Amino acid sequence: MVGIDTSDDASVYKIRDDLALVQTVDYITPVVDDPYTFGEIAATNSISDIYAMGAKPLFALNIVGFPIRKVPVQTLESILQGGAAKAAEANISILGGHSVNDDEPKYGLVVTGVVHPDKVIRNSTAQVGDNLILTKPIGTGIVNTAVKAELASEESMREAIRVMTTLNRAASEAAVNVGVNACTDVTGFGLLGHLHEMTKASGVGAKIDFGKIPVITGVWELIDDWIVPEGVHSNVEFVQEKLEWDSDLPEDAIYLLCDPQTSGGLLISAPKVKTDELMKALTDANVETVALVGEIIEDKENRIYVA
Ligand code: CO
Ligand code: CO
Ligand code: CO
Repeated sequence: MVGIDTSDDASVYKIRDDLALVQTVDYITPVVDDPYTFGEIAATNSISDIYAMGAKPLFALNIVGFPIRKVPVQTLESILQGGAAKAAEANISILGGHSVNDDEPKYGLVVTGVVHPDKVIRNSTAQVGDNLILTKPIGTGIVNTAVKAELASEESMREAIRVMTTLNRAASEAAVNVGVNACTDVTGFGLLGHLHEMTKASGVGAKIDFGKIPVITGVWELIDDWIVPEGVHSNVEFVQEKLEWDSDLPEDAIYLLCDPQTSGGLLISAPKVKTDELMKALTDANVETVALVGEIIEDKENRIYVA
């Protein structure tokens, strides 16, 4: 039902009229020093693609790269314990996995989920007039870069870790219950990159209200000091051609909107008439950030207007 042509979050394969299999794999290199926390973040990030499809995760497998002769095996155990803890929070078990000896540690999950074939929430079905709701603040890539250079404040670091270890489960369940038109999670291509995938696949354009975008504490100060991740530049290139940038906006705000996120929030495209209900459902489900950041507009060129 869903393959690679729409750059969606996971593949979907119908096995019965009332049952489809949702499958994803994702692994990352460490974004924090603490191995347990890294395990939590990697697992949260992997399971997110199941939630982004409006599906329910069933079980997972570990995928591991680890420098087994250079780093004590206890470190690997901590990573796996962090991953298992998040899997348990998502109500799933890790049933196996595979590891290779690797110079740089890598960790993530293969996650299998299920969904009713009529209830799949694609990224390719956003409708003109929809509102865009974002469920986590952005800036984790910038903070993670600052952490590596030992330039991040305690506060920024703590907030980024909380954001990256929060499952998108509650947000996804609220979106499924209310019924929305499209959804994706904001990860490596940044907010604008994933929005671009959505608008292109849906044949629409979008407007973003820059002032409404939730940002992790301290991120603006880091941008002012030119602390931006390497990956931001290719993300800017990826969307540049489609961007209509209001000249009143600060130019370096592009680095924030294209900042590659680890384990970011859901970007939900909801019918205007359902927006209030969705925002209430998200708030009632204790989703910390519920931000109405823009809308879907008619635009054959799939342009994204940021103002
Ligand atoms: Co995704
Ligand atoms: Co992914
Ligand atoms: Co094997």
